[in-house]
Amino acid sequence: QNHLQSRDQQQLRRFSFGVAFDIDGVILRGRVPIGGSPQALRRLLGDSGSSKVPFVFLTNGGGLPEHRRASELSELLGVKILPSQVLQGHSPFRNLLKRYEDQLIVATGKGEPALVMSEYGFKNVLSLEDYASLFENIDPVSQYKYWATKKPMDRSDLSRNIVPTCDIHSKSVKAVFVVSDPVDWGSDIQVICDILRSGGIVGHKGGTQPPLYFAADDLEYQAGAFFFVSSFINDFLLQAAFPSERLGLGAFRIALESVFNRVHHSPLEYVSFGKPNPFVFKNAESVLNQFQPADEHGGFKECGPVAHPFETLYMIGDNPFVDVKGAREAGQPWFSILTRTGVFRGEHNHAEFPADLVSTDSTKYSLSSWQVNV
Ligand code: G3P
Ligand code: MG
Repeated sequence: QNHLQSRDQQQLRRFSFGVAFDIDGVILRGRVPIGGSPQALRRLLGDSGSSKVPFVFLTNGGGLPEHRRASELSELLGVKILPSQVLQGHSPFRNLLKRYEDQLIVATGKGEPALVMSEYGFKNVLSLEDYASLFENIDPVSQYKYWATKKPMDRSDLSRNIVPTCDIHSKSVKAVFVVSDPVDWGSDIQVICDILRSGGIVGHKGGTQPPLYFAADDLEYQAGAFFFVSSFINDFLLQAAFPSERLGLGAFRIALESVFNRVHHSPLEYVSFGKPNPFVFKNAESVLNQFQPADEHGGFKECGPVAHPFETLYMIGDNPFVDVKGAREAGQPWFSILTRTGVFRGEHNHAEFPADLVSTDSTKYSLSSWQVNV
């Protein structure tokens, strides 16, 4: 009976709603918090510091393992974020582990794409940069890249656990993963075309195109940018948002696809993950369902799947084509909130993908459920 009672009590304290926050353009612009986002998150966390309201970050961004992104977010926002609350564009790549666990794969994008993949369990990962460095003159304009300081990978690096110990030149690349926004589009397009056209062994002719995976397909997004400022005393870094949206992973995909389809006889085959794919929202729902109020302070802890789904899940995003489209297609219990703090700046609702609610501020809404429950 005690067991039943405590279960009933837990059910009563369970929240009927959860929140999925987009990051870029809603919570942060680059590394700078937008509006009152730290205060809003603190409110969801309550006094005890452990979450009262289940929430996750549902971002198409990435480039760092989830635990590193969680620490970074905790530091930038001044609140404790768990790794399991961070769902990035590339997070579902871990589901492909069975297929590629021991195979040679190449990963590219800003941050540490090879580390991300090796932390998911992939055993033979090379960053595209390291892979390319093993082929002399693969990038014919590399000598003009005055910003590139990295030397060709030393053979001794092959002993690091994220680098395969095989002969790269004769080993076939089984898949290419675009983990986050590529840094050097020119070189990436060249080398990815080389890998895919050759069937996975650069320099060879023909062969089936190895699979290509993108973490997301955002055409544009609201980014932050770093600027070097020189003064008499010192050089320092300043960060500010560029006034208009920047080209994202989807733009890179279009560029790569256009080139590939001109240089190769059959069209590029690829799979894109991230929002607005409905499975991303399904997964967010099941992650949110794993959080329920449980400790004596009214906080919540991670626990197994629960029987009763949420009545409402709020997706708070700045991109109608990604955040709102995805929430709309995911259907019940998703409710979309479109903010004017990033990609979307329209006066009224978006015409093609109207949100359930549009707000100028990314963290203030009049929702009766919030007032009742928070
Ligand atoms: O590169 C990040 C961008 O594609 C979108 O991030 O947080 O707005 O989904 P987010
Ligand atoms: Mg966004």
